[in-house]
Amino acid sequence: MEMFFRIANLILEFAFFVCYVIFFYCSIKKCFQRDGVSKSNLFVLIFFTNPMVVFLVLGMLIIIVEVFVLILGYGYDANTVVDMYRNVSKLTLATGLATNIIFTLLLILFSRVIGKWLKANNVSLVVFIYLMFGVIIALSGGRSMGLNSEYKDFSFRLLDFVCKSAFLVTVFLMYHFLIKALAELTKQKHRIRWMTFVIPPIAFLLFYSVFDVLTFYSLSYDANVVVQISALVILLLFIWAFYVIINNIRATDEALTAKDEVKELSVEVMEALAHTIDAKDAYTNGHSVRVAKYSRMIAEKMGLSAEFCENIYYMGLLHDIGKIGVPNEIINKPGRLTDDEYDVIKTHPEIGYQILSEIKSNRELAKGARWHHERYDGKGYPDRKAGEVIPLEARIIAVADSYDAMTSNRSYRSYLPQDVVRSEIENNMGTQFDPEAAKCMLAIMDEDKEYRLHEHSDNIVENSNGM
Ligand SMILES: [Fe+2]
Repeated sequence: MEMFFRIANLILEFAFFVCYVIFFYCSIKKCFQRDGVSKSNLFVLIFFTNPMVVFLVLGMLIIIVEVFVLILGYGYDANTVVDMYRNVSKLTLATGLATNIIFTLLLILFSRVIGKWLKANNVSLVVFIYLMFGVIIALSGGRSMGLNSEYKDFSFRLLDFVCKSAFLVTVFLMYHFLIKALAELTKQKHRIRWMTFVIPPIAFLLFYSVFDVLTFYSLSYDANVVVQISALVILLLFIWAFYVIINNIRATDEALTAKDEVKELSVEVMEALAHTIDAKDAYTNGHSVRVAKYSRMIAEKMGLSAEFCENIYYMGLLHDIGKIGVPNEIINKPGRLTDDEYDVIKTHPEIGYQILSEIKSNRELAKGARWHHERYDGKGYPDRKAGEVIPLEARIIAVADSYDAMTSNRSYRSYLPQDVVRSEIENNMGTQFDPEAAKCMLAIMDEDKEYRLHEHSDNIVENSNGM
């Protein structure tokens, strides 16, 4: 009968190994499909993230450290130590704990390195899931006490308990670091929770430990067969979970792509609108796109959030949309405008505000249109707002708008030299312009030594042609 259980045990162990290999193979295949990672990169990654490899290396290190502790700390000679290794019962609790701490630290280090590496190589969750699974296998297999009677010794059970607890903590930390890296990688901070990955290993380790203990107490192979079967079932569950997760990720990817496409379309529509506005004026070709870009540059210089910088670009594109309501004859009048004509021009912020207020999904857009002609000292229009009361977006667009007006050709003059533009902005800091926004514009100009940032610079104004 015992022979039967021994064979069953071996077969199950083999089945477990085969499943693990299949799982490993699926991971690699999925990686190739999803990430386009080069083969050599992937090979290195798979090799070093393979928990079995790591486990073996760490295991070797632990033995080396244990030998060291025994020789140095207890004065044993090398031969005695080798003998001691033949009999686990001679290991002291102290050396066990010392090596356990080192093992824990190494695993943490390992997870941090791998987390960084996954991020640097843009590798998907698939590898991570494989890694997670492998770690569990390595932990449960590697720390199993085996069929030895010393397990009944209290100090050994205590040591085993301490080890297992430390491993659990390590696994938590490891997942925490990896998930952090992966969340940044996939930009899905709210979708990936490291707890999701912690629950299965806890369940696995608990289940496995119970049967492990049963095996040790009964000291028979039939109990071990139960352990193997349970491990196999759990492995199959993991494979199933793996596919569910992958399918979810794929669905999420598709949803995100669709969202990106819609966003791209809106940006293109906004840019087309900006060109339409500029087409009304023969001399402001590409003005709106340039103002949008300058505004974004200023916002970036001011250290504002990525979301703010993106939004101000859209506001810049549409800041003059109200000009649609101003007759072409006034906009394109060659000579000086009469006061009445100027009053008509001055209605464009309000018209723009009304048009953009209709866009319910982005109510912020209207801000730039309405207040981009306000002055910091309160002498602007249409609402004569002053200082910080003017929305920051509008204060930034005002600087960008003036910069573009001075640096582009007009019917009556060509663009102004950079030093003239610079002193003009500097002299109007705090009166016409918000000091902070103006300061950042000056800094951008100072970096632009060759004066590439003006109307005819292709670097900045790639959209101004072909209107
Ligand atoms: Fe304007």
